[in-house]
Amino acid sequence: MPTKIILDCDPGHDDAIALLLAHGNPNIDLVAVTTVVGNQTLAKVTRNALSVARVAGITGVPFAAGCARPLVRPIETAPSIHGESGLDGPVLPEPTLQLDERHAVDLIIDTIMAHEPGQITLVPTGALTNIALAARKEPRIVDRVKQVVLMGGGYHVGNWSATAEFNIVIDPEAAHIVFNEKWPLTMIGLDLTHQALATPDIARRIAAVGTAPARFVGELLAFFTETYKDAQGFDYPPVHDPCAVAYVIDPSVITVRKAPLDVELAGTLTLGMTVADFRAPAPADCTTQVAVDLDHEKFWALIVDALERIGDPPPD
Ligand code: BDR
Ligand code: CA
Repeated sequence: MPTKIILDCDPGHDDAIALLLAHGNPNIDLVAVTTVVGNQTLAKVTRNALSVARVAGITGVPFAAGCARPLVRPIETAPSIHGESGLDGPVLPEPTLQLDERHAVDLIIDTIMAHEPGQITLVPTGALTNIALAARKEPRIVDRVKQVVLMGGGYHVGNWSATAEFNIVIDPEAAHIVFNEKWPLTMIGLDLTHQALATPDIARRIAAVGTAPARFVGELLAFFTETYKDAQGFDYPPVHDPCAVAYVIDPSVITVRKAPLDVELAGTLTLGMTVADFRAPAPADCTTQVAVDLDHEKFWALIVDALERIGDPPPD
């Protein structure tokens, strides 16, 4: 049985690839896509999500827009990495899917409550604003979800400050809520995603797929390569968000380690830092784990395979 996931995202180059992977992999049943302010404004990332849906030929999946600002802090976006549109590089087709009328928080709650306990996996790849509000609005979802597998944080490294990662630090209060709920939570942080580099060989393998969605991914990666070089000194870009989807598809792609986790809210140098307690043994009631090692070949094989399966969607 494929795993049912809700992808809560802010496309975003790597979010777009996460969406394509979720759509193209047969072990995933994408039951909803929700958007949250992050890489760009809510209006832009929502439009981007719908454009990617058109590129990939995604139909019959509800898409809903969520929070337009973080819980407490002012909006902070990432044009230095994702450009002014949030998805600069390729031409973005005009969306054809209609947005679901519900707020993302309500779509998340409705979807989880409509399924038997243990059926839905939450995969957040942006700030945790929608997920935190959903947990506060309908606390019963915490026991009902199978697990939360999120891209965010890191236990050794930051990217938006010396100690904090973008998705966490732009809404640290939301992250604090999500990390402190008692649901099984896997943090796919920068320690892991900085291993998911899109090398020139990967770009060639994607180009060889030869379809319109594969060309779209190639154009995303070309833009992402340049911004990661300029803004963060990377030779090849780390493609963060699909790592979370890959872990849901096949846990053997990523080695994990159990550790209590929390989010710093009071530090002046460490606001938004995700703190992992690696003292052994982890407490018996620990429900959190961090991603440690990536099988690079297996990971990229999943992306290429998803693109091959998606093929060239029929014109709408
Ligand atoms: C995360 O921040 C965003 O810019 C990316 O989409 C990813 O989710 C990496 O820090
Ligand atoms: Ca993202």
